[in-house]
Amino acid sequence: MSTAKLIINDQEHEFPLIEGSEGEVGINVRSLRSSTGVITLDPGYANTGSCRSAITFIDGEKGILRYRGYPIEQLAENASFVEVCYLLIYGELPTQAQLEEFSAGLVYHSMIHEDMKKFFEGYPPTAHPMSILSSMISSLGTFYSDTEAETDLNITRLISKIKTIAAFSYKKSCGQPFIYPRNDLSYSANFLHMMFAVPAEPYEVPDVLARSLNLLLILHADHEQNCSTSTARMVGSSGATLFHAISAAISALSGPLHGGANQKVIEQLSMIQADGGDYQKYVDKAKDKDDEFRLMGFGHRVYKNFDPRSRILKGSADEVLDALGVDDPLLEIAKNLEEVALKDEYFVERKLYPNVDFYSGILYRAMGIPTDMFTVMFALGRLPGWLAHWREMCADPDNRINRPRQIYTGAEERAYVAVGDR
Ligand code: ACO
Repeated sequence: MSTAKLIINDQEHEFPLIEGSEGEVGINVRSLRSSTGVITLDPGYANTGSCRSAITFIDGEKGILRYRGYPIEQLAENASFVEVCYLLIYGELPTQAQLEEFSAGLVYHSMIHEDMKKFFEGYPPTAHPMSILSSMISSLGTFYSDTEAETDLNITRLISKIKTIAAFSYKKSCGQPFIYPRNDLSYSANFLHMMFAVPAEPYEVPDVLARSLNLLLILHADHEQNCSTSTARMVGSSGATLFHAISAAISALSGPLHGGANQKVIEQLSMIQADGGDYQKYVDKAKDKDDEFRLMGFGHRVYKNFDPRSRILKGSADEVLDALGVDDPLLEIAKNLEEVALKDEYFVERKLYPNVDFYSGILYRAMGIPTDMFTVMFALGRLPGWLAHWREMCADPDNRINRPRQIYTGAEERAYVAVGDR
């Protein structure tokens, strides 16, 4: 490929172009500062490629999402979440033998050390489960060595134990006894068992619940260099442990502009319902620049046509709600709100479409998952993506500690003035 030319103060500089396997082109500016003395300024990194990655491909203009080359629609239709974890982390779909070995590891490592149960006691009943999750994952690291030889084992431990920690934090929030994992259940069914079983009576996980969760986890499993994944890479780039990198990613995901949006969507739809269902009023509020209100679950940094995950979820919402025998008026409100917004010039012009969070909350609600656990569900799904990126980063010869620069805009040098003279 050819080069890009940059002229600064009449002096021409050349930079190589690099091309990805799907034709994406980037200007390699690694030598920019050393050869020109200037840097790039790109708040929010919307035009900055932070790494080369072979994990996930997104074409936001065409609404394409592929994990390791496989279209999300095919994986959502046919795969298990455990297969997708393996695919993302190790690069290929597992053979039967590989899948059995990987699944056996996930079953074997699903309990947490009994001492960790004491940690839950220290949190107030009002603690948000995302805060508990990120602290617990950091604490989990204190039980294991983080040598390179243990990396694969720690990956297995994290995928297996995160669901136990997540379910325990829910049980803690409602004051119920912890329910231990069962070795005979699939990954999704095991999590639901730990969430919903109680010691007093038998509980069998309905198949439709396990299938819905499997779908939701797959749809959330990776999304290339999003805020939480970049956080995992950034923290990991300093040589911090895998547990710290994942804990930090969970914290990044908790924000309402990222994974926290699924909780906010349901709160917003409930508010619109309570206010009489006036969609236009809320669309107008979202358009008003003097009003901080935004339509949660709308818009995406990358998707500028449609979010394929949201399409899959919208398609399955009616089916899942029917199978569960749930009639949720919020689904109707969501569909109507989408219709009103998508016809509105403001949303059309800015290419704002429903993202994955717009319909996921409705499915989680129908499954009986409480609203403040929604973002935790997102974390369970996104974990294999974080792990895959962390692992890729560690093996990348180009990897250096992540350390952006800045354009300083503060005061110029001045002399210290003693407090009495100010
Ligand atoms: N409601 C109303 N207006 C919006 C919305 C929205 N949900 N999203 C974007 N806009 C407007 C902005 O005000 C801006 O308008 P302007 O050009 O007149 O100033 C324009 O659209 C571009 O928006 P930005 O905020 O610059 O886009 P950015 O790429 O930085 O943000 C984000 C993307 C954070 C997803 C944004 O669309 C948003 O806040 N959405 C709501 C929260 C949400 O659903 N987050 C989940 C993201 S997906 C995920 O993490 C799974």
